[in-house]
Amino acid sequence: MKIAASYLAITDNLEENINLLDNTTIDYIHVDVMDGIFVQNKTYDYEYIESILKNTKKKKDVHLMVKDVYNYIDLYSKLNPEYITVHIELEQNLLDVIKYIKQKKIKAGISINPGTYIGKLDPYLSCIDLVLIMSVEPGYGGQKFLDSSIEKIYYLINKRKENNYNYVIEVDGGINDETINIIDKADIAVVGSFITNSDDYQKQVDKLKNNQ
Ligand code: DX5
Ligand code: ZN
Repeated sequence: MKIAASYLAITDNLEENINLLDNTTIDYIHVDVMDGIFVQNKTYDYEYIESILKNTKKKKDVHLMVKDVYNYIDLYSKLNPEYITVHIELEQNLLDVIKYIKQKKIKAGISINPGTYIGKLDPYLSCIDLVLIMSVEPGYGGQKFLDSSIEKIYYLINKRKENNYNYVIEVDGGINDETINIIDKADIAVVGSFITNSDDYQKQVDKLKNNQ
């Protein structure tokens, strides 16, 4: 399983710590973007995020927890991310949003909150590159893993097999060296505080990778 590291829980020396993160064996840097409307919390402005990521080499995985999704897609596509993921709870014409992301030659993902019925994804599964299953309520790092996300992994594995879809399955929130075993059938795990709350990032990444 691949590891996408979220820096959301880093509170000081953000640029220095992101560069440390970039020099570990993680597979992606997970860029959490919050507007204070779609979720209560608000992350830094794009210009600041672009400046602190400028020296990083790792592929980017952008997670938009925002309402004004087209504007944020325009901004964050400038990072040349591998994925841009939006939320199904947006209640917007998601097929247009997915097309808009793909027109920028970026892979499109849909994220689903813990309380949202997994079947709502069905109309989009044939045309997306990634599903991001939230195993915490979006908005903050450091929360506890919600077991209700597990059945969603199996639902998506079965749908992918039955229909020959090719989206990757990513799980996000409360993942550590124990819960990573529970989600071992997923393709990518997003891990924030378990890595960044420690003083040796690589040691934590090794624990995650060795536990698979
Ligand atoms: C929460 C974010 C997650 C979070 C993960 O809204 O989408 O990516 O930063 O952090 P941990 O691993 O600490 O739950
Ligand atoms: Zn996230």
